Amino acid sequence: MATERTSLFIFFGGTGDLAYRKLYPSMFNLYKRGTLREHFAVIGTSRNKMTDEEFQDAVRKSLGTAKSDKDAEKFISHFAYEAHDVTDKAHYKVLKDRADELDKKFKLEGNRIFYLSLSPNFFGTVAGFLKTEGLTDSQGFNRLVIEKPFGRDYDSAAQLNDALSTAFNEDQVFRIDHYLGKEMIQNIEALRFGNTIVESLWNNRYIDNIQVTLSEKLGVEERASYYDNSGALRDMVQNHIMQIVSLLAMEQPVAFTDVDIRAEKVKALRSLRVYNVADASTNFVRGQYGAGNKQRAYRDEDNVPHDSNNETFVAGKLLFDNYRWSGTPFYIRTGKELADKFTRVDVVFKKPLVDIFAFPQNANAPLEANVLTMFIEPKAGFSLRLNAKTSGQGFQTAPINMDYFVDAAGEKATPEPYERLIHDVMKGDGTNFSSWPEVSYAWKFVDQIRKVWDLQQPAFPNYTPGSMGPAAADELIQRDHREWVYRLNQ
Ligand code: BG6
Repeated sequence: MATERTSLFIFFGGTGDLAYRKLYPSMFNLYKRGTLREHFAVIGTSRNKMTDEEFQDAVRKSLGTAKSDKDAEKFISHFAYEAHDVTDKAHYKVLKDRADELDKKFKLEGNRIFYLSLSPNFFGTVAGFLKTEGLTDSQGFNRLVIEKPFGRDYDSAAQLNDALSTAFNEDQVFRIDHYLGKEMIQNIEALRFGNTIVESLWNNRYIDNIQVTLSEKLGVEERASYYDNSGALRDMVQNHIMQIVSLLAMEQPVAFTDVDIRAEKVKALRSLRVYNVADASTNFVRGQYGAGNKQRAYRDEDNVPHDSNNETFVAGKLLFDNYRWSGTPFYIRTGKELADKFTRVDVVFKKPLVDIFAFPQNANAPLEANVLTMFIEPKAGFSLRLNAKTSGQGFQTAPINMDYFVDAAGEKATPEPYERLIHDVMKGDGTNFSSWPEVSYAWKFVDQIRKVWDLQQPAFPNYTPGSMGPAAADELIQRDHREWVYRLNQ
């Protein structure tokens, strides 16, 4: 049985889509695993009027359970509701009284987690009032969890951070990046630092390039009003991709602790080359999907302006100016309405310096580069491409794959990202959250690209739904005499 964790959760935006779809079901999983037992409580808040019972009904619905499910009913009985306007200072007193009452009732030791799942415009206001109105005065821990987006550029993110830091210290702030809750993203560290044969080759002497692909099959769905103001660069690159890249590029941490891991990620991000105008234009390309394959064009989606120049696709080349990576580019790409939904990392090794098997009769079968692929989602596993002799007379080589995929039992044991992340917050473990220095370096890099793009008129639309993005993404890598490892129709 898991160790029981004790805390009160106050969810701001507690009746939102994320709360019902991800947060409460994840908490229920933690309840079933025993991490949450008797000593926890939840206050859901939003502007809507609702009774505790109505809220509990909605939570029950989100869990997909019936009233006859005794476990679920016990879990739901820890849920309370407060209609709360986050700008109404006086009402924080009501919230505090409710928090104190639940604290006593469930013996919560004054531990509090404030979860902000609402517009970032309100983050500063809520954090400030939580402090001034005494909600953070309890005896236990006080932790603040926030959802993205954390700013829309470096300046706005810094402002936001200043606002939060008047009420919470950095080690009390947990910035969610749900990619860090994914099993296979965490496996990057296990694979690198748990294996001599991997880590000893993990540098520019042996690795030719690294490719990170976050491909989405869906379009913007109902989120156009957010997405059209964000675009793929802010939505996926600044956070998820930069986090993945920093885990791939960092040095070995002194120990496997949040402080040590964050220190190495920050060091890696600091050595990422921030591009000038010319380099930003050549090393990054953007795309927007047009109509095709029974899909309407981005510009025809609901709530998208007909002349929108928002990018739904990004590809780029990242360069680290440090001893380990100098000369080894990291190529990244992500987009909506692509061929398939998957996330993978391809590590392409250098070919042997001399191909001693290059007999004239093998002219069509030169040695291929070794590739280590990390499949993040939907299937989880690794694959290592090696060259081996083909069976039979003569001496010919051909690539073979050594594969490992997580089996059904492993999949079952894998917690949902939110389940893992909520658990980490209760433990006070910040390893899988983005620290402010990481966020700030990521913005400084991304801001340069954005600045250049904002000055240039893109020729949109430039890719068809169901493809792997615009031709420019292929040209970007081909210019360096390389290819994407994952290509359509190969
Ligand atoms: C979110 C983005 O952070 O990640 C979405 O805002 C995107 O636009 C989503 O669809 C992808 O997450 P996942 O876990 O489905 O790969």
